[in-house]
Amino acid sequence: MPDILFIPPDDRLPFARDIAALHLTAFPSSHFTTLFSINLLESYYSKLLSYSDAVIIAFDAENVVGFILAGTNLGYGVSKFVSAYRFSLFAILLKNPSHLCSKIISALNLPFRRTSRYKSNHSYRLFSICVSPGIQGKGLGSQLLSSLEYYLASSSISSYGLSVKSSNSAAVRFYLMNGFLVDRSDGDLCFMSKGLP
Ligand SMILES: CC(C)(COP(=O)(O)OP(=O)(O)OC[C@H]1O[C@@H](n2cnc3c(N)ncnc32)[C@H](O)[C@@H]1OP(=O)(O)O)[C@@H](O)C(=O)NCCC(=O)NCCS
Repeated sequence: MPDILFIPPDDRLPFARDIAALHLTAFPSSHFTTLFSINLLESYYSKLLSYSDAVIIAFDAENVVGFILAGTNLGYGVSKFVSAYRFSLFAILLKNPSHLCSKIISALNLPFRRTSRYKSNHSYRLFSICVSPGIQGKGLGSQLLSSLEYYLASSSISSYGLSVKSSNSAAVRFYLMNGFLVDRSDGDLCFMSKGLP
């Protein structure tokens, strides 16, 4: 079984590229981020790693085979990334009209939806979880979640939330199987949360 380690803030950045590479192999192609080049995705994760509270990585020998990023401030990291790389992101959108349409619809709705669609009731968020495709379905994702929850409980955090694309049915099943409840759905987004003992 892979080793699961918490990575302290000062040691995180060197893992950004391996995390980006794993993301590209594992995330469904409906995720906008799978259109990023490896370099752009590495920059994205470099930003997110510095804004995460908890970074947990699963290693098989030296290889990164799974990860979790979680915390209260990751949305701010995403905004920083978007403003730093807006021209690259716009170019990707232009080349991928289906994503362009959905982003335009989101942008048009944003002023009305800022308080509902993009906000979770839970300030602590599981932002990203990923397991290498070759070893999915063998319990590593659940183990990563347990490690995060052990840490949250020891930090007196009593609940956490996440949002997942409803179309990512494998991930939705995974969260339900791990005790998450659906708080609400909004279009393609499903908001879920879990209380901790
Ligand atoms: C979601 C994810 C992290 C689950 O990790 P995992 O190690 O496969 O999960 P576990 O083995 O602990 O749990 C498997 C359960 O999750 C579901 N599941 C999700 N993806 C699966 C897969 N590819 N193969 C088998 N089961 C999968 C099933 O319900 C399964 O339970 P079951 O066998 O009783 O049906 C992993 O599938 C993944 O990396 N997906 C791509 C990235 C992603 O979509 N992340 C979530 C969005 S933020």
